[in-house]
Amino acid sequence: MLDTQVILVKRAKGIPKAENFALLQTPMPSCPPGGLLVRNVAVSVDAGMRGWVSEETSYVSIPVGAVMRSYAVGEVLESDCETYRPGDMLFGSFHWQHYCAAAPQAVLWKVDTNFAPPSVWLSAFGISGLAAWIGLTDFARHTPGETILISTAAGGVGSIAGQLARYRGLTPVGLTGRDSKVERCVSEFGYEQAINYRRADFDQLLDAAVPKGIDLFFDNTGGDIADAVFTRLNHGARIIQCGTASIANWSTTPLGPRRERDVLVRELSWCGFIVLNHLQRAKDALPDLQRMMAEGHLNIREHILDGLEQAPGAIAMLYAGDNDGRLSIRI
Ligand SMILES: NC(=O)c1ccc[n+]([C@@H]2O[C@H](COP(=O)([O-])OP(=O)(O)OC[C@H]3O[C@@H](n4cnc5c(N)ncnc54)[C@H](OP(=O)(O)O)[C@@H]3O)[C@@H](O)[C@H]2O)c1
Repeated sequence: MLDTQVILVKRAKGIPKAENFALLQTPMPSCPPGGLLVRNVAVSVDAGMRGWVSEETSYVSIPVGAVMRSYAVGEVLESDCETYRPGDMLFGSFHWQHYCAAAPQAVLWKVDTNFAPPSVWLSAFGISGLAAWIGLTDFARHTPGETILISTAAGGVGSIAGQLARYRGLTPVGLTGRDSKVERCVSEFGYEQAINYRRADFDQLLDAAVPKGIDLFFDNTGGDIADAVFTRLNHGARIIQCGTASIANWSTTPLGPRRERDVLVRELSWCGFIVLNHLQRAKDALPDLQRMMAEGHLNIREHILDGLEQAPGAIAMLYAGDNDGRLSIRI
């Protein structure tokens, strides 16, 4: 039997496009000694993938010729390890391919598809949900009644961060790039208000949306959006740097306003986090997010593509904002 894999063929300058990848047919792998043979049923498309294939190489880079790294939900077909059995559904780093010969360390956690379908284990109960939960729980130091501004508000992380913030008694205000998503932020994702940051009157809209200023900034974009938000931060505000989606290329560091004085005189706290360094928090985050969903406080809007042949163009689709919900691929 044959496997289909999506291979990185050329590193990307800026946003990765379909031409950076190729589909390859290879013999189906066998179960590795001490490991697992997994059949993927859903694979993720994450904004963070851009950094893995970028021209600027780092410790997270994927080598040219390798299968594209991805989180996935898959079923164990064969197991040569004690922990997992055939039939188990798992969430892990199983990549853009049909079959994965995985080491047990590639598994992040078990998945209960009776509770939620595989795609939701890539979103709310995957890295997006964990990033939103960790950012708010471990770094925000929030108190009820505070105003939190969230960029990429309608996306995988932002849609969950908005609902978590609402659930905890904050007033979430969202920024997104389409009017249809503005509406969805308010009707589905718990936002008090949302604003299309592309509008010419963005500054006035932002002033009107945060009359008492901003206590917390959950930033997924950086760039012009962050520049606009910084001037509205209250004394003692906290900035949680989760992503930098608006910066297409870091090979030359983009220049912008200097913020050291704001940090000093307004006693701001600015911290970043990388979810993969906090995976131990999943044991607290997942039950919390699952409880919210069971109680009807967590909506997930999904955009599911069919088939691995959709994968090469999917990262560009995400960055163009053409996804109409959390993007994943069903296999
Ligand atoms: N720190 C961590 O460990 C961690 C973990 C997961 C994700 N993240 C980060 O969180 C952010 C969101 O990730 P996600 O997976 O949930 O993706 P997402 O928000 O579902 O998709 C990315 C969104 O970014 C927005 N965007 C693209 N280009 C932009 C630009 N130039 N200016 C402003 N917005 C732009 C688009 O939304 P609009 O249509 O609304 O413009 C697009 O839909 C990313 O920066 C990602 O790297 C960080």
